[in-house]
Amino acid sequence: MALLEIENLVVEFETASGPFRAVNGVSMKVHEGEVLAIVGESGSGKSVSMLAAMGLLPWTAKVTADKLTFNGRDLLSMSANERRKIIGKEIAMIFQEPVASLNPCFTVGFQIEEVLRMHLGLDRAARRKRAIELFEAVGIADPAERLGSYPHQMSGGQCQRVMIAIAIACNPKLLIADEPTTALDVTIQKQILDLLMKLQADYGMGLIMITHNMGVVAETADRVVVQYKGRKMEEADVLTLFENPKSNYTRALLAALPDNATGDRLPTISELFVDDQIEGAAR
Ligand SMILES: Nc1ncnc2c1ncn2[C@@H]1O[C@H](COP(=O)(O)OP(=O)(O)O)[C@@H](O)[C@H]1O
Ligand SMILES: [Mg+2]
Repeated sequence: MALLEIENLVVEFETASGPFRAVNGVSMKVHEGEVLAIVGESGSGKSVSMLAAMGLLPWTAKVTADKLTFNGRDLLSMSANERRKIIGKEIAMIFQEPVASLNPCFTVGFQIEEVLRMHLGLDRAARRKRAIELFEAVGIADPAERLGSYPHQMSGGQCQRVMIAIAIACNPKLLIADEPTTALDVTIQKQILDLLMKLQADYGMGLIMITHNMGVVAETADRVVVQYKGRKMEEADVLTLFENPKSNYTRALLAALPDNATGDRLPTISELFVDDQIEGAAR
């Protein structure tokens, strides 16, 4: 059985100029222990589709799907209360902006211990012990001391390690990483990706890696969903995608990889292919 199963997900936002379809009939499955990458340029509906699946969008979003299940349980018909027991515990998410995702008013120790208290009901001593273990697991030096730091006292890379520690605190079955390295320096990006892949393997988690970067896809994914303008353009295992891409859009994304680009500026997708061609291939 798939961990997360999404069939024909549609997300519409009410706007002043009428409804806007940010996600237009996307389907995908993630299995236990599998790494699924969702790749596509900015605005293609990657974040919105995952936030919709988690029930985390504002009320202005209209979400429908033929199927939306986690471990066989229907997420759409679930009460907010039931869903809260799953999100953050069995499904965890990490976001692009680690510093903004943490609360500036509380120490990072308080923030990780709060998750351990809320979802696992651990007492004070057990929380502290587990928090130190988790900081160690994500490679934070002097973990006991670090628990007393505020987010602004840590670097972006350190904050992302804290976010990852919080995400894995309850041993989630599924981790959704939404552009987890995009806001970080290039040298740190690689370290964070390596850490995520190590934890994914150690914990046997399903992982959804959202990225606009084909390099990240190559480093991490077993299977890939390519998304464009709210639609799924292509889905393939990672080798097939790189060796034999079916859609023009995927070819355009591959051509934008630094290794393949000519000159010192990356070509944009619209320079490589006009929208019509790309969309034509989706039909
Ligand atoms: N709360 C919102 N209200 C209206 N439109 C939104 C909202 N959130 C996202 N969108 C729009 O939905 C589209 C998809 O956004 P998003 O999923 O964030 O793209 P990305 O693939 O970069 O993650 C974008 O055009 C974005 O402007
Ligand atoms: Mg996004």
